[in-house]
Amino acid sequence: MNAPMNHGRGGGMRDPFTAFVCDDETAELIRPVAVENGWSPEKVNKGGLRNAIQTLSVSASPHILFVDMSESGDPLNDINALAEVCEPGTVVIAAGQVNDVRLYRDLIASGIQEYLLKPISPDHLRDAFVNAQMTVSGPRTVEAATDKPNVMAAVIGVRGGAGASTLASSLAWLMGDKAGRSTALLDLDIHFGTGALSLDLEPGRGLTDAIENPGRIDGLFIERAMVRANDRLCVLSAEAPINQPMLTDGSAYFQLEEEIRHAFEGTVIDFPRNVLVQFPHLLNEVHVVVLAVEFTLAATRDTIRILSWLKANAPQARVIIAANKVVATAQEVSRKDFESSIERKVDVVLPYDARCAAQAAKLGQPLAKAAKNSKLAQALNQLLTLTMESAESEDGGEKPAESSSLFSKLGLGALGKKKESAKVALTK
Ligand SMILES: Nc1ncnc2c1ncn2[C@@H]1O[C@H](COP(=O)(O)OP(=O)(O)OP(=O)(O)O)[C@@H](O)[C@H]1O
Ligand SMILES: [Mg+2]
Repeated sequence: MNAPMNHGRGGGMRDPFTAFVCDDETAELIRPVAVENGWSPEKVNKGGLRNAIQTLSVSASPHILFVDMSESGDPLNDINALAEVCEPGTVVIAAGQVNDVRLYRDLIASGIQEYLLKPISPDHLRDAFVNAQMTVSGPRTVEAATDKPNVMAAVIGVRGGAGASTLASSLAWLMGDKAGRSTALLDLDIHFGTGALSLDLEPGRGLTDAIENPGRIDGLFIERAMVRANDRLCVLSAEAPINQPMLTDGSAYFQLEEEIRHAFEGTVIDFPRNVLVQFPHLLNEVHVVVLAVEFTLAATRDTIRILSWLKANAPQARVIIAANKVVATAQEVSRKDFESSIERKVDVVLPYDARCAAQAAKLGQPLAKAAKNSKLAQALNQLLTLTMESAESEDGGEKPAESSSLFSKLGLGALGKKKESAKVALTK
């Protein structure tokens, strides 16, 4: 199960294993296999999925949960109800009599680790328990691997669609793969985030759960809620329902940053602009800010505004300007004009490469991995090098260019009075 069941309200000690079954035959099958795993046979309860939901809504959920769905009229709905009462990291094995591949896929997408068709063979059951135990203990390697101080980078797109999420997932992947750091990708785009999607993972409920219950965020929570992409990369991302706003005062985000900092050697935060406006303190501990920019008029204006904001709100952070989707043909704003307008140099230029972007999406891989050996991959590697260098060095990284007003530098002075008056607002 990529997406652990996460949303719980139980308290107290968690059992290693509990089962809720519908018939004696299944109970008789599970008990001896449970004993083989060192679990109590008394943890095999009668009552199936419904009883599981009722019981777990008022008690701590186990690490491994077996539920029999045979008596459920609406398995998918009931599984979602179960997810509501399960604590982070509970690994769920479901069993049922319906042999339908669509149901199977839907159940897996809902966060079930495995679906066993009844009658269940003891060997299948044993295998399912072995896999479940591996999932439960898997993420613990994260903590053991942590021995370098955490490097924290925030990626901010100065305009929507500039490629911030693309750069964030690639940077996180490279930090793990090339820089050899255990890395967490924290996607703060709660409703529309693509952190998990871009790595072909289910986001799980960890992030939404954290926002709803910030008091529960601790090292153990992080261990269980993060979704593992590979040996060196974990993701915390969400696809929160878009029919309800996420109410938070930002404390959950801050705490997540803190816990991730302790558990990982690298943090890459996909940082939407609205979160920046709402919770500026989230940038307090960040070493590096990667600004994803484009060579357009609107992006030029907002780069100026965000750079000035960063100077006031995150003076400790080194800023890397990454120009993305750059084409060789005429652009709305030339690189030269862009640089003189923002009064500093662009650090990395990432070419527009639709083929690589499409390949990455099709493979469910970060662009840096899918675009190997391309110019784009080289530029992404450069971004990693700059990020690591910036995080390690102390002094400021800005390279000022000649100062002048935006419109004169952009050569737009001839556009008439209306644009001239806009210049005042733009350069404020
Ligand atoms: N260098 C590039 N060449 C071609 N396509 C790219 C490049 N970088 C990003 N893209 C594509 O642009 C689209 C938008 O990218 P992405 O989602 O990363 O932007 P974003 O800034 O995070 O957007 P949002 O404002 O919605 O968060 C994606 O389809 C992505 O594949
Ligand atoms: Mg994004």
